[in-house]
Amino acid sequence: MLTSSLAYQRCVNPGCQATFDVGQTLTACEHCGDLLDIQYDWSQARVPARLSDFEQFWGQRSDPLRLSGVWRFRELLPFAPTKFLVTVGEGQTLLQAADQVAKFVGMNAGGLHLQYEGMNPSGSFKDNGMCAAFSHAYMTGAKRAACASTGNTSASLAMYCSVTRLMKAVIFIGSGKISYGKLSQALEYGALTVQIAGDFDDAMARVREVSQDLGIYLVNSVNPFRLEGQKTIMLRVLESLRWRVPDWIVVPGGNLGNSSAFGKAFMELHELGLIDRIPRLAVINAAGADTLYQLFERRRLRWNKGQPDSGRIAEYYEDMTQRGSKADTIASAIEINRPVNLTKCLRALEWMNGVVRRVSDQEILDAKAQVGAGGIGCEPASAASVAGARMLRQEGIIAPSETVVCILTGHQLKDPTATVAYHTTDQDKFNEVLGSRGVTRASFANRAIAVPNELDAIVRAIQMYS
Ligand code: F0G
Repeated sequence: MLTSSLAYQRCVNPGCQATFDVGQTLTACEHCGDLLDIQYDWSQARVPARLSDFEQFWGQRSDPLRLSGVWRFRELLPFAPTKFLVTVGEGQTLLQAADQVAKFVGMNAGGLHLQYEGMNPSGSFKDNGMCAAFSHAYMTGAKRAACASTGNTSASLAMYCSVTRLMKAVIFIGSGKISYGKLSQALEYGALTVQIAGDFDDAMARVREVSQDLGIYLVNSVNPFRLEGQKTIMLRVLESLRWRVPDWIVVPGGNLGNSSAFGKAFMELHELGLIDRIPRLAVINAAGADTLYQLFERRRLRWNKGQPDSGRIAEYYEDMTQRGSKADTIASAIEINRPVNLTKCLRALEWMNGVVRRVSDQEILDAKAQVGAGGIGCEPASAASVAGARMLRQEGIIAPSETVVCILTGHQLKDPTATVAYHTTDQDKFNEVLGSRGVTRASFANRAIAVPNELDAIVRAIQMYS
C-alpha cells in the first residue's frame, strides 16, 4: 500500500516496474535490484501551466524555500510535505554567456553558456541533490547519513548535517584521493571521516554494505531523491535562458547522477507539455576514467528499452578487474570506473539523443585555464565539459551557431593544487603534479614573476609586463 499516491518510488526496469512507498529508504529495487526513480501522478500535483509561471515566485524571496534554487521549483519534485524541506540557500547559481570560452571552443559569440554550480553553499552542484535527499532522510527519521565520495558529496552532506544539526555525517573516502579543499570542508564541518585504503570504487562498495548493516541513510546518487534535486539545475538553466531550450547540455560524467537527472527532467517537462523539444546531451569522461565512453561509444551498449546488455557490462567490469585497472585522472571528482547510475544514464542518452566523449588531462587543464581566465573558475572535473564541447565542435557534431550549455560542477577553490601546478614556474612542481598525468604543457599559464625585494626592480618588472 502506498501512503502517497502523488509520489512513489518505481523500479526503472520496464520489465519489473515494482513500486514502493515514498517513505521507504531504498537504494535498489527489492525485487530485481535495479535502480529506482521517483514517479508522480501529475494530475494530483500543482504543476504550473507554463514554465514562466514560476516567475510569480520571484517576489517571494523572503521565504527561504522560494529563495532556494531547488525548492522554488518544488511543484516539479513534490515528494515531501513542506515541513520536511531543508534548505541552506542552495541553487543561487549563474548561467553566463562566455564569449572568450566560446572562441576557444569554436562557437559563435553568444552561443556558449557556462552554468556555475560551484556557486552553491558547499561549492559544488551536489547541494542541489543533497538538500532533496537530506529532506527525505529527515522525513524518514534518519539520525545518521553516509556517503562514499571523491570529495564534493561528502562536503555537501557534512555541511547539511552541521548547519541543521539534524543528523550525523559519516563519510567514506579513498585514501589520498580527494583534494584538500574538499577534505578540509568535511573535517571542519565535523563529519566522521573514514579513509579507506582504496579508491572511490572501493569506498562506494563498502559504504553500501555498511549503511545496509547499520541502517544508516545513504545519500550517494543511487538514492533516487538526490536526482530529483539535481533536476533543478536544468530548470535554472531554462529560467536563465528565459525558458528557451538550448541545443546542447554538456556535463562531466563520473557516477552519472547528473546526466541521469537531466534526462529525467527533460522527459518530464516534455510529457507535461512545458517544453516542446529536448536538448541533446553530451557526457564527458576523463580519459583515465572512461567506462561510459568505452561501453557506449566503443561497445555500442544502449538502454535498449530497459534491457541493456548486462553480459557486456559484466564482461567489461571483469576485464577491468583482471587488468587491475584503476581510474586515474587529475579530475579527481570523476575518477570513477564503476558508475552507479550507468543504466539510468543510458536511458538519458537515449531520451536526449546523446553522445559520450573522453578528454585527456591536458585538454581538461587547458579548458579549465580558459574558464578561469573569464573569472569565477571551476575545478578540473568541471572543465571536462568545456573540453568535450570543443572536441564535439571540432568533430562537427556541435555547430558553431548552436546554443550550448556547459555545466561547471564545482568551484575553482576546490582543488588549488592542480591550478597552481598549471601556472607554476617551478618545473619540478609541474612534473610532480601534472607531468605524472601526461600533461606536458601549460599553454594558457599565467606565471608569477619573481623579483628581488627592491623598489626599482619591482617597478621595472611591472612596467615591463603590464
Ligand atoms: N563534477 C564534480 C565536481 C563532481 O564532484 C562530480 C562527482 C562530478 C562532476 C560527476 O558527477 O557523478 O553526477 O556524474 N562527484 C562525486 C562525489 C562522485 O563524491 O563528490 P556525476
